[in-house]
Amino acid sequence: MRIGIFDSGIGGLRTLLACLRYLPDAHYLFYGDSAHAPYGDKSPAQVRQWTEAAYAWFIAAGVDAVVLACNTATSAAVAPLRERADVPIIGIEPAIKKALEDHPRGEILLLATAVTVSGVKLQELLGRLEGGTERVRPLACSGLAEIIETQDVQWRERASRYLQVQVRPAQQQDTRAVVLGCTHYCWIDDLIRDVLGRDIAVVDGNDGVARQLCHRLNIPTEAGVMPPLPSHARISLHFTTDNDVKSYLARQLLAASGVRMDTNQDLFLVPQQEVSRSGQI
Ligand code: DGL
Repeated sequence: MRIGIFDSGIGGLRTLLACLRYLPDAHYLFYGDSAHAPYGDKSPAQVRQWTEAAYAWFIAAGVDAVVLACNTATSAAVAPLRERADVPIIGIEPAIKKALEDHPRGEILLLATAVTVSGVKLQELLGRLEGGTERVRPLACSGLAEIIETQDVQWRERASRYLQVQVRPAQQQDTRAVVLGCTHYCWIDDLIRDVLGRDIAVVDGNDGVARQLCHRLNIPTEAGVMPPLPSHARISLHFTTDNDVKSYLARQLLAASGVRMDTNQDLFLVPQQEVSRSGQI
């Protein structure tokens, strides 16, 4: 089974890790649109166009399902894409429902990109959920995904400073949970706890996406049980620019999470027109 995972960059690797728990034997094709990242401050029309290009790439590569591991792309493109989809498309959206349910009182702080925060999809979601508009405070974190994406020597210090200056002032006395509405922010969940306090819950939607993927593929999952991460995985990485550097960083992040990529999967990385169903060049 072949699963396409899409993001502007390394944020989507966290969603990939969640999917690996439930589908450890699948072959994952990871597409990071580094040429156009960050998506968060582009126009929804541009994001939609790039997401459609990625989707076409996945279809040419013969995937069985596509996961939009990017809240921004889901906000801008999932609805039109689904209208003419050949395979199941699973989008990610901020796990606000879970946060509201787990924390029946107090405020929920939602961190996301500007596109996600200003999108109709979020407004609709907030309007549908009890307490959504009253208890959820969305905060657009422009520039934060970029800091995380660099993975340079000082990225964690810069991310921490960003949180102190831009996010902590938005925290209220009754803030109970922070929802990570951008997959990149999952790489700084520990920093968010450090800056906002250990008693604040940090919630992301990756497990829900992985379960939804299984559901769409008719693969049963057990409620309340999160399987362990496998130590090896079949993953092919494709970044639209700086592929070598980005793939190296991605392999390091996966390895630091306990997952080693099986060798030779990179052979899959050939120009789109040469990608065959078998994955051979
Ligand atoms: N990881 C993406 C998301 O979940 C967006 C990051 C970006 O701005 O490119 O929204």
